Amino acid sequence: MSSSETRKYRPETLLVHAGTLRSQFGEMSEALFLTQGYIYPSAEECEARFSGKKPGYVYSRYSNPTMSMFEQRMAELEGAEAARSTATGMAAVTTALMGQVKAGDHIVAAKALFGSCRWVIEDWLGRFGVTSTLVDGKDLAQWKNAVRKETKVFFMETPTNPTLEVYDIAAVAEIAHAAGAKLVVDNVFATPLYQSPLALGADCVVYSATKHIDGQGRVLGGCILASEKFIMDYVHQIIRQTGPSLSPFNAWVLLKGLETLSVRVQRQTETAAAVSVALEGHKKISRLIYPGSPNHPQADIVRKQMRAGSSLVGIEVKGGKEGAFRFLNGLTLAGITNNLGDAKTLVTHPTTTTHQRLTPEQRAELGIGDGLIRFSAGLEHPDDVIEDVLSALEKV
Ligand SMILES: Cc1ncc(COP(=O)(O)O)c(C=O)c1O
Repeated sequence: MSSSETRKYRPETLLVHAGTLRSQFGEMSEALFLTQGYIYPSAEECEARFSGKKPGYVYSRYSNPTMSMFEQRMAELEGAEAARSTATGMAAVTTALMGQVKAGDHIVAAKALFGSCRWVIEDWLGRFGVTSTLVDGKDLAQWKNAVRKETKVFFMETPTNPTLEVYDIAAVAEIAHAAGAKLVVDNVFATPLYQSPLALGADCVVYSATKHIDGQGRVLGGCILASEKFIMDYVHQIIRQTGPSLSPFNAWVLLKGLETLSVRVQRQTETAAAVSVALEGHKKISRLIYPGSPNHPQADIVRKQMRAGSSLVGIEVKGGKEGAFRFLNGLTLAGITNNLGDAKTLVTHPTTTTHQRLTPEQRAELGIGDGLIRFSAGLEHPDDVIEDVLSALEKV
């Protein structure tokens, strides 16, 4: 289906059909084009495709029919003009940020970031003369005050990893645009189903497709979505010339993952909500964070910009690291890991994994206590998940 044919359909339908390209064989399931390159019918056609005078595939570092199907399906779901797929979520973040800046430029980002995103901004881009200011993403005055004349990019995740803070995308986009900068939003925790940053004013959305989009622990992948102009100005050449590309095989796995995304995320979110209700006021827990709860500190922003809560819950158990480890080791169903958004219920201890690189003071500033657990609801029966959590808490 072309984009004009699918425009009238709802997200659940787009997830199954959008972007499908059918070969001459009329296959029902999307084909896996496991090819590095293409054979041209003539030297003239080859020349025309290389020069861009004629459309068509050239080399799978930057174009392949299976990648195109994944990108088109993502673009229609997100309401974006264009998309590019990448090998990982970090390749998407790095490409989207690096493509916009040069030495002397400045980035403003919320300090509550996934550890690798923070490293890219502070350490890696810093090596090339790009400076950055990290702000409290909840405080609009801090975003405004961080602006310099060299500021080119604003960057945030919302909800954040792992503290599930929620930031006002529309308000931050307005500040970015007044400063002549672009806002990039990492939408991994909300998923394309529950939050649409482009419609709220963001200029670019990035995903780790490794999370809910695959959602079955198989492959890594990423995606960058924006206007056609943004992609052509900042993203296309970097992917074409430097090659942080998605493999056609992984694009195919992710394409099939998209087909079931809505039913999986809906079920995971219902289970996460049920877990948060079951843990409310539990004596072994010092803090419970759930974006779908009316008690969430940014519940008004959640209502304004998200269509549902989240498949993740922040659970801070009493007793610091020791308490957290007793809880983790007491779980029999949930797996201890650093991934999320999977069919299997997963738990992560950010202090010793994803946010290990930060100093204790930096973690304290972000509200990442030693007892905090990031809980990612899976597709098991919700009662089994709740029973697992409650019985592990008895061991704390
Ligand atoms: C919010 C967020 N952004 C980006 C990434 C990076 O994704 P990937 O592991 O696919 O590189 C992750 C997780 O790893 C994440 O949680």
